[in-house]
Formats: sequence, C-alpha cells, structure tokens
Amino acid sequence: MSKIMEMEVVCLSTLNECTSLQSLQELKVRFLGKTGELTGLLKSIKDLPPEERPTFGAKVNELRNKLESAFAEKQSQLKEQELQRRLRDEKVDVSLVNMQPWGALHPVTLVEKTISDLLIAMGFEVLAGPEIESDWYNFQALNIPADHPARDMQDTFYITDSILLRTQTSPMQARLMEKKQPPIKMICPGKVFRSDSDASHSPVFHQIEGLVVDENITLCDLKGTLEYLASNLFGPDTQVRFRPSYFPFTEPSVEVDLTCSNCGGKGCSLCKGTGWIEVLGAGMVNPVVLESCGIDSKKYTGYAFGLGVERIAMIKYGIPDIRLFYECDLRFLKQFGK
Ligand code: PHE
Repeated sequence: MSKIMEMEVVCLSTLNECTSLQSLQELKVRFLGKTGELTGLLKSIKDLPPEERPTFGAKVNELRNKLESAFAEKQSQLKEQELQRRLRDEKVDVSLVNMQPWGALHPVTLVEKTISDLLIAMGFEVLAGPEIESDWYNFQALNIPADHPARDMQDTFYITDSILLRTQTSPMQARLMEKKQPPIKMICPGKVFRSDSDASHSPVFHQIEGLVVDENITLCDLKGTLEYLASNLFGPDTQVRFRPSYFPFTEPSVEVDLTCSNCGGKGCSLCKGTGWIEVLGAGMVNPVVLESCGIDSKKYTGYAFGLGVERIAMIKYGIPDIRLFYECDLRFLKQFGK
C-alpha cells in the first residue's frame, strides 16, 4: 500500500513540473505504459497472499484512473499554452505586406516570354537545346562546312576544335529534324555566343528560333506568322517587309524588316531615315538540310526564322545600347514594371 501512495506522490509532483507535451508523454509511458511502473505494481499482485489481492487491485486501479485523468488534464493545459505561444510568436501583420518592394522581370525575359506566349498560342512547342554545342550541329549540319565564309560572321568561343559555344539557336533545327518527322512546329529560345562587343553586339545574347515543316508550307506562312507577331508586339499598323538575303541553311533566305515603331515609317534617327528596321533572318528550310536530316524534301517544305530578343527589346523600349541589359543597374531595370 505504501508503494501505491509513494507512486502517486512521485507521479503527480513530476507531472506538475512538466512544461512540454513531450516530457508529459515520456512520463505517461514511464508510469502507465505496458512496461510502466504502475503496470508493474498490477503484475506483482500474484506475489501477495490471496486475501490481500482484491483490496490491493482496487487501489491500483483507483490510482490508474486518477493518473489517467491527471495526464489528460495536464495535456490539454499544455496544448492551450502552446497555442497561445504560437499565436503570440507567429503573429503576422498582413497590412505590412504592401511595404515589400515588388520585383520585376528583366526586359529580355519579358520580351522572350511575350514572343514565346504568342507563338505557343499558335501551336508551337517550346524546346531547349545545349549552349555548349558541337561544330557539327552548329555549322556542318546546317550546310556550313569548315572554311565556309559564313563562319566569319559567327566567330565564337571554342572549347575544343570541335566543341564550341553555339553562335545561333539554329542547331536545334537539325537536332529536332533528325529525331522527328513532320509535322514539326517548334520554337527554341536561348542564349547564343559570339566574339563581338559594341553598343549593338554582345558576346552573349538571346535568340528565338522558329521552325515549321509540313506539306505545303510556303513563304506566305512565314510572312503571316511574322505579321501576327509584329502587330502584337508593335501595334496593328506595323508592316513586314522581306528582303533577299543568304543563309546556307535556308533557300531562299530573307532579311525581315518592320516599319519603324518610332516614326511609323516616315524616317527618323532610329531607322536611319529609311522607315524600316531589320529584325530577323529567315527563309525556307534548304532541301539539302531536310534531306541530310532524313526528311523527304519532295513531300515536305518548311520555314525557319531566328530573331534576336535584345534587338526586339531595344526597338520596343527605345534602348540605345545593348550593354544596358547586362549591367544590372536598378534604375534601368526598375522601368520595366511588374
Ligand atoms: N541563325 C541565323 C542567325 O543567327 C538566323 C536564321 C535562323 C536565319 C533561321 C534563317 C533561318 O543569323
């Protein structure tokens, strides 16, 4: 009997000092658990003389009930204290949220996303390709063999003799056509590299490649797509003009001009008095390239274009120097809104 009383005193006084749910749980296991102290007392009944067993058993059960309700009460007390503590410590003043400065998308990201979204809505799928590219995909697969003069305009950074930083997103044309038969309708936005640096050229800049290959694709499909892009980027009155050009992987090739968004085509300093601004290179995919990628050039035709994202952003926002994009000057970046 004295053991029972002693256990009650020890358990209740330790319980009173409990300050956490975890220590309460540990205490509960210590006394009421399967191998706990109180359970141990119950098991010792068998060592008592038979006449003492009923009273002893009743007392132990009484204590168990008492302890169980004491534990339950303490547990709800501690839970309430914990809740109050969290309400106090984790208080959030929602009216302070307005004090946080808003970030903004970088103008290159903004323009890349705007153009991609317009093309995605027209059914183009978006691909990404490697920035470290082989000479094969960057040049040879695009009908630019070693020593071809077109390589001069695209000097770049070589990692080995045959591995380089891609100079254009066009290698993705060959990579995709090798794997997939038409219909093909893809864009590939990404970084490209050239050893060039002045107010309008940067050693790293961004392009978006476009490629459509299917039956009966013509230059008119290219023009329609670019007109749709131009009117959404620069306003409904923007006109698109094709001038003959040359790229080894397109035939015929065109240089694409838009009416100057600054003067509306009248002639100003931005368009050097011509009323037109050159924005991208494009053309019909050269049958030689189709065939070398395993696509039947009698059955299928395609168009491709490659536009410079910085160039479009410079025209759209009147930015005079490409280097402003990479200087991370907050006064510049903050102008591009939310
Ligand atoms: N890759 C060319 C360049 O960077 C642009 C281009 C893309 C031209 C697709 C024709 C077709 O100059």
